Amino acid sequence: MKAFALSDFDAPPSVVDLPRPVPAAGQVLVRVHATSVNPVDLLISSGFFRTVQEYRFPAVFGRDLAGVVEQVGAGVTRFAVGDAVYGFVKRDYIGDGTFAEYVVVPEDMFIGPAPLGLELASAGVLAQGGITALECVDAVVSGPGDVVLVNGATGGVGVYAIQIAAACGAEVIATARTYEQQTLARSLGAKHVIDWSAGDLVEQVRALVPAGVHGFIDLVKHVDSARIGENEAEAHALVARLCRGLLREGGRAASVTNGGVPELLGDIPCANVHSSPTPESIARLTALVEAGQVVAPVYATYRFAELAAAFDLLAAGPALGKISVILEPGSQA
Ligand SMILES: NC(=O)c1ccc[n+]([C@@H]2O[C@H](COP(=O)([O-])OP(=O)(O)OC[C@H]3O[C@@H](n4cnc5c(N)ncnc54)[C@H](OP(=O)(O)O)[C@@H]3O)[C@@H](O)[C@H]2O)c1
Repeated sequence: MKAFALSDFDAPPSVVDLPRPVPAAGQVLVRVHATSVNPVDLLISSGFFRTVQEYRFPAVFGRDLAGVVEQVGAGVTRFAVGDAVYGFVKRDYIGDGTFAEYVVVPEDMFIGPAPLGLELASAGVLAQGGITALECVDAVVSGPGDVVLVNGATGGVGVYAIQIAAACGAEVIATARTYEQQTLARSLGAKHVIDWSAGDLVEQVRALVPAGVHGFIDLVKHVDSARIGENEAEAHALVARLCRGLLREGGRAASVTNGGVPELLGDIPCANVHSSPTPESIARLTALVEAGQVVAPVYATYRFAELAAAFDLLAAGPALGKISVILEPGSQA
């Protein structure tokens, strides 16, 4: 099968031919129809996680997927050949990812039935951002009427965080800098939009909501670092400053970039979200999509052979939702 993989730490990823994996007992083989590119893939590709995670070369990476079950291993009961599925493959090593024609996954993790009525091209950009956003909203929203700030709102996680918070009845403030990003944020349910590049975020939010917000979802990687663990003190200090400045008494925060540390936050709750694609979280996301409360905003679509160009767009920004990658039969390099 064709796959996009890293052969070692010193070369960029490339399209390679690998044996098609075979599902063992309790596993399913999925033919991948669609996936998406995300910042974590850029980090993986740069060797960012090399000190904490094994890279199994040739390391196929990629996490999002939508596709069709091609084969099932012994004892599989949740899925049958031909089922449309989607999900988010998050292993404890780098390899066996979704930038490939086929991927093997356990039947009880990472995937669920694709939402009814949703094209696989859209389902393929849903789970990674959607489940991360769901966990962030769970961590900060108590109920209808909460005012919630989503920082980094037009990226791959933010576009879902806006929608899920709004679906909970929250009044959403989104950060976005360009006109197109601000229009997108409003179309997804943000009531207010703030240009984070136009001035201090805390001052801008307090001008809008003098008492501060109930919930703060921080989706910004505040500090550049080449390896995991570098410059973390700086990032922690920034997130702590934002939490203190933005939250009202009793407010809660969630960070996806390991931004919250208790020593700096005192009694301010700040959840470090490490999204977990379980059957339960996937089913919750599916229900939101099927209820029409969450859509998958795609702003660019590439074919598998164009994955490198998809990464270039992701790195260049500005982010306007998800970048989809389609693996149609015959479209591979
Ligand atoms: N912990 C987890 O489980 C988990 C899961 C998924 C993602 N993540 C991480 O979460 C982060 C966001 O992911 P993503 O897919 O949403 O990324 P993305 O698509 O690159 O979006 C990033 C967003 O942040 C905005 N932004 C950049 N600098 C900013 C700043 N200084 N202040 C406010 N907004 C700023 C960007 O706007 P412009 O495009 O206009 O610059 C964009 O809207 C990444 O670091 C990713 O690695 C973590």
